[in-house]
Amino acid sequence: MTKVTVVGAGNVGATCANVLAVREIVSELVLIDVKEGLAEGKVLDMFQTAGLLDFDTKMTGVTGDWAATKGSDVVVVTSGVPRKPGMTREELIGVNAGIVKDVVEKVVKYSPDTVILMVANPMDTMTYLAAKVSGLPGNRIFGMGGALDSSRFRCYLSKALNVNPNELEAMVIGGHGDTTMVPVTSLATYKGVPVGTLLDREALDGVVADTMVGGATLTKLLGTSAWYAPGAAAAFVVESIVRDQKRVIPSCVMLDGEYGQKDVCIGVPTVIGRGGAEKVVELPLSASEQELFAKSAASVRATNEVLKEIKAL
Ligand code: 2OP
Repeated sequence: MTKVTVVGAGNVGATCANVLAVREIVSELVLIDVKEGLAEGKVLDMFQTAGLLDFDTKMTGVTGDWAATKGSDVVVVTSGVPRKPGMTREELIGVNAGIVKDVVEKVVKYSPDTVILMVANPMDTMTYLAAKVSGLPGNRIFGMGGALDSSRFRCYLSKALNVNPNELEAMVIGGHGDTTMVPVTSLATYKGVPVGTLLDREALDGVVADTMVGGATLTKLLGTSAWYAPGAAAAFVVESIVRDQKRVIPSCVMLDGEYGQKDVCIGVPTVIGRGGAEKVVELPLSASEQELFAKSAASVRATNEVLKEIKAL
């Protein structure tokens, strides 16, 4: 029996819930939102596909009824406002900090033993805030960004190479921001062959640039933040937790000396299993990637400082 709560029935939360339900990754799913009827409606709509898609996941949608989330093994926090075209994720900090603090307190009250997966933007800073206010150990509170950004990296690599994305190994570490992501090109491979030997410099630089603004490109096209890939990426991380798959997924974790960083939540390859973010994996990065990662951490830290300015921390 695995119970998972998704907080926020907007596009990303509902897509995550849908993937978890349809693929029967969890046995019990709760979707909760503050907007009257939204979570109930989304769950009813999803459940009406059960007879068509042949799944058997117990699903409940609730408006603000936190008691329904009690005893969740994993809670995915997607609540907060999304980006509008032209906005950075960082511009959401003021509004989303208040929402995230309130939500995390309630999550911990009803599910003290849970693992929390943060998705709300700016994700690295919201994860840092949530880690500080919840007091949970670092393995039980971390953020989803790297799973999404790495999937986008594989998407653009697959287009450039005209190959199946599933046959590519590629990771994005660093912050989940348009300028803070670090696609690790030196270790990206197609069937074990370094992509740097298959693409020329210009093509590879183009893939990196497209990956870094992957979310912004979609915000411009859609008029709001993307949801299919973010929702699926969150479900992918949840699956690794509840099935104890121990997948190595770049995840936003509180570092304590790894990669030369302390007291910052930022994306690094992490073993994800039943214990949550179980272990950080240290990759042999190139010198330029190490430099980019250090710059990314400095930038995430600067955004975290805003939490103090607005008295959220
Ligand atoms: C994205 O990159 C919503 O941050 C999310 O699409």
